[in-house]
Amino acid sequence: MKEIHPGIHEHSGKLYTKNLVPGETVYGEKTVDEKGEEFREWEPGRSKLGAAIKNGLPETGIKKDSKVLYLGAASGTTVSHVSDIARKGVVFGIEYSKKVVRDLLRNSKKRENVCPILGDARKPSEYSNIVDKVDIVFQDVAQPDQAKIFRKNCDKFLKDSGIGLLAIKSQSISSSRPAKEIFREQEEKMKKFFEIKWKSGLEPHEEGHMFYLLEKK
Ligand SMILES: C[S@@+](CC[C@H](N)C(=O)[O-])C[C@H]1O[C@@H](n2cnc3c(N)ncnc32)[C@H](O)[C@@H]1O
Repeated sequence: MKEIHPGIHEHSGKLYTKNLVPGETVYGEKTVDEKGEEFREWEPGRSKLGAAIKNGLPETGIKKDSKVLYLGAASGTTVSHVSDIARKGVVFGIEYSKKVVRDLLRNSKKRENVCPILGDARKPSEYSNIVDKVDIVFQDVAQPDQAKIFRKNCDKFLKDSGIGLLAIKSQSISSSRPAKEIFREQEEKMKKFFEIKWKSGLEPHEEGHMFYLLEKK
């Protein structure tokens, strides 16, 4: 097992994080034991962050003691791996579907560093009494106004030196226009506020997305 980023390991082409809650899995992922420690396989086909790492994301910015704001937490698949990495930090998971947040609560019950929040990422004031300044803002919400939602949250919560991780889904913006044109337009908007440090599509793991590593200007 080789550590390729803080808290992220690779073995035989597969990604792993060290399980914060040994004996418990979150989405049916496989586990392996090495030197008495349990690692959970991180499936890139189930996680855009996992896919970005497989496609060469040069850094995640996430460290052992990081505070992470995760927008679009869903049932907690990727959140669980972020929680394995930021094991002494905190992951604020924002999810606006009541039904989905129930799964997130169940999946993160034993993960003491995960704080599931039922809230709309378009309205950061709904959770500003819980979330404080963070090192990383991650977003995967698949909405037409993805870039605007991201900037609003970064303005309010991201530290000056903070890192943004953003997955943009072109089809959520328009299914009739070419994806390339949509990504270019979104990038022009982002460039006013962020430096784009790296970007990549997520194929073959996920179609129709561009993933960005951003630094606040
Ligand atoms: C593509 S899924 C995220 C998957 C997740 N990132 C993972 O890898 O496990 C998008 C999620 O964002 C949520 N979402 C969409 N718009 C939202 C908003 N405005 N506020 C909060 N959550 C939102 C959806 O309910 C959905 O669960």
